[in-house]
Amino acid sequence: MSALSELVILKLGGSVITDKGADDGVVREAELLRIAREVSEYRGKLIVVHGAGSFGHTYAKKYGLDRQFDPEGGIVTHKSVKKLSTAVVDALNRFGEGRGGEGPRAVAVHPMGCMVCKNGRIESMYLDNLRLMLENGLVPVLHGDVVMDSELGGCILSGDQIVTYLAKTLKASRLGLGSAADGVLGMDGKAVHEITPGTFEEFSHYIGASENTDVTGGMLGKVRELLELCKTSCITSHIFNAGKADYVHRFLEGEAIGTSICPDKGN
Ligand SMILES: Nc1ncnc2c1ncn2[C@@H]1O[C@H](COP(=O)(O)OP(=O)(O)O)[C@@H](O)[C@H]1O
Ligand SMILES: [Mg+2]
Repeated sequence: MSALSELVILKLGGSVITDKGADDGVVREAELLRIAREVSEYRGKLIVVHGAGSFGHTYAKKYGLDRQFDPEGGIVTHKSVKKLSTAVVDALNRFGEGRGGEGPRAVAVHPMGCMVCKNGRIESMYLDNLRLMLENGLVPVLHGDVVMDSELGGCILSGDQIVTYLAKTLKASRLGLGSAADGVLGMDGKAVHEITPGTFEEFSHYIGASENTDVTGGMLGKVRELLELCKTSCITSHIFNAGKADYVHRFLEGEAIGTSICPDKGN
């Protein structure tokens, strides 16, 4: 496991890299390229996970996949999120090639092909490929997807659940979730500095679902996943605004920006 001791996991929210208000998949090209450039400056071991944005949530809603599995809807949604995955991988590799091979060498890993859920929660994942990719200088790119489920037939798996599972299983040193807000916004509309399992109750009234179509719980879904992670693994994570220039870069360089979700002091 020592080879992965400095692993960083970065989630790019679908609300940043896609037009989440669109009825169909629309990439925000300029944003994606700006972020890819920021990522390309990072040299350490990195896994990128992106949300499904308008490539996934709209279809998931249309086929009612958040309520019941439907094979046709599952295939349509999976095919659509794969298109977004290709766009993200290509954007990252553009900078890898442009820097004489020094930048990221990204490769798509589709959750449908390597993960199984039980009642909507990740039950198992094939990880040997990810470990070898990281050891050999590749940047695996995963994404919110439709996956098979041993109880439900199939289910929607959020990028938010994927990052917490990977952070815990691969013992990541840093986890950051870049979204479209400055962090978890509190009563005054400003990002709360820190949320712990003990202080969550204070802020819970201000944390809700997404303003756009998002079948995986929006900001509340994110915070719940991250609180669970810090309770079980003591890992601190950061929710920050990836829509702001240089924030992805700053997170990757080790800055605590946005809202930190961390264990209670003394734990
Ligand atoms: N307290 C809050 N702070 C920030 N965002 C919130 C809050 N409550 C609800 N939201 C909504 O949650 C959204 C972020 O969740 P989501 O759309 O799922 O992002 P992503 O695409 O990054 O997964 C915000 O854009 C906002 O619409
Ligand atoms: Mg979301």
